[in-house]
Amino acid sequence: MDPDSEQSAVALRRLVNGYQVTQAVHVATTLGIADLLADGPRSSDDLAAVTGAHPGALYRLLRALAGAGVFREDDAHCFALTDLGDGLRSDAPNSLAGWTAFVGEPYHWQVWGDLLYSVQTGEDAFHHVHGTDPWSYRASHPERSARFDNAMASMSRQVAAAVLTAYDFGRFGTVVDIGGGSGTFLATILARHATMHGILFDLPHVVAGAGPILAAAGVADRCTVVEGSFFDAVPAGADAYVLKAVLHDWQDADCARILQRCRQAMTEGAALVVVEREIGARNEHPDGKFSDLNMLVSTGGRERTLEEYGALFAAAGFRWVGFTPSARGAGVFEGVAA
Ligand SMILES: C[S@@+](CC[C@H](N)C(=O)[O-])C[C@H]1O[C@@H](n2cnc3c(N)ncnc32)[C@H](O)[C@@H]1O
Repeated sequence: MDPDSEQSAVALRRLVNGYQVTQAVHVATTLGIADLLADGPRSSDDLAAVTGAHPGALYRLLRALAGAGVFREDDAHCFALTDLGDGLRSDAPNSLAGWTAFVGEPYHWQVWGDLLYSVQTGEDAFHHVHGTDPWSYRASHPERSARFDNAMASMSRQVAAAVLTAYDFGRFGTVVDIGGGSGTFLATILARHATMHGILFDLPHVVAGAGPILAAAGVADRCTVVEGSFFDAVPAGADAYVLKAVLHDWQDADCARILQRCRQAMTEGAALVVVEREIGARNEHPDGKFSDLNMLVSTGGRERTLEEYGALFAAAGFRWVGFTPSARGAGVFEGVAA
């Protein structure tokens, strides 16, 4: 592309102003607009009346998002969902509504606003802005915690089918999901494998939300819920220990402690199943690299390469088995308790 062309200038402006789209989609999702359009087009005045929004301002929001391809506007100020916007319905098959509702929330947004601090110091901005870590912060803000758990469930739904297609969990009798959130990923595994048993392990205020999710998937009778911290001890004796989107939250020393706790609970030959993104080749895969920045600002963790996961595994007493990519970004880094 000619760097002086209008096309390049527009592409650059859109890249630079990407934050505006994030916040606009976040606000539309917070107001439940995609759900309100599920049965067909509605006027912006009608949507304003239902949501309690300012009619003129809501029209401007929806018009901007129609310009970005999320909605389609007709000449009577009526808006419809596009294929893209359909993914923001809370009951869409691979709904991103939960993630969208979280990602523009002021407390998380402020942390990204402090990215310069993280880049200058190498420290997470979350502590700098909020004076504590995200897990303690959310433990004392129940609504935000529930929205975060929902965001994780939203991301899990996005990748679960692809991961389960790529990687066969069917050979395991009991799977424990360490830091498994409110259970969406484990519920998907158990629903696919009718005789498998599951153990969901996470912090008390997080597993408290698991009951309805396990029940809705029809797997509650095959799943035990255990609360605790993976820095203390994790349930013993399962065939597979899943850590999905957990190690990327932590620095190497903390990952070593988590993996050691798993290794202590495992019998020789049990599988370590780490579901994470591989950071990917240079100059490509922006999703993983921006997720890495998200870890830098919010948790102090990082996305890693195959070699970096291999080193973490070896240091904690695991033999490296291999990496299984999936069609949806996240893949499986597998080890075996040696
Ligand atoms: C990024 S979320 C991933 C959740 C889930 N595995 C998924 O992929 O949807 C990280 C999880 O680690 C949990 N977590 C954080 N600190 C923990 C601790 N000390 N012990 C157990 N779980 C913890 C959080 O509550 C959260 O559910």
